[in-house]
Amino acid sequence: MISRGKNIRQVFQRYLSTCFSLRNKMVDVNIAAMRIDYTLSEQLDTDNLPVKDPISLFEIWFTEAKNCERIEEPNAMTLATGTRSGIPSARIVLLKGFDKRGFMFYTNYQSRKGKELVSNNTRL
Ligand SMILES: Cc1cc2nc3c(=O)[nH]c(=O)nc-3n(C[C@H](O)[C@H](O)[C@H](O)COP(=O)(O)O)c2cc1C
Repeated sequence: MISRGKNIRQVFQRYLSTCFSLRNKMVDVNIAAMRIDYTLSEQLDTDNLPVKDPISLFEIWFTEAKNCERIEEPNAMTLATGTRSGIPSARIVLLKGFDKRGFMFYTNYQSRKGKELVSNNTRL
């Protein structure tokens, strides 16, 4: 019994010291100050786009992203869906193609996104 009591105390002490060390780490990292300034020197001039068609414009921008060495997965995109009652969810999927009909990705029809797309009568 005594040794069991000791073990519980030791576990609790270890738990407390972990909490304190995590707390100290949180104080060290100033999350609130973390911010990259994405303001561009050149603003997007919507009156002078190279093309007006959104799919053609996407193709130009996607090619730029593909040629950018710092972007490892330019075809990673966020896919948001919603339930019929309007509860949203979002996740990352990989773009596998696009044309005038839209954007293509592969997934499981039984997944949450699959079921939500079907329940919203999305053209699949
Ligand atoms: C980089 C990356 C790429 C992914 N690509 C796909 C994908 O192409 N298709 C897919 O179904 N899930 C992909 N996933 C997993 C999804 O983000 C998600 O976790 C999974 O599909 C379950 O989603 P759901 O339960 O909301 O439907 C990817 C995840 C990551 C991190």
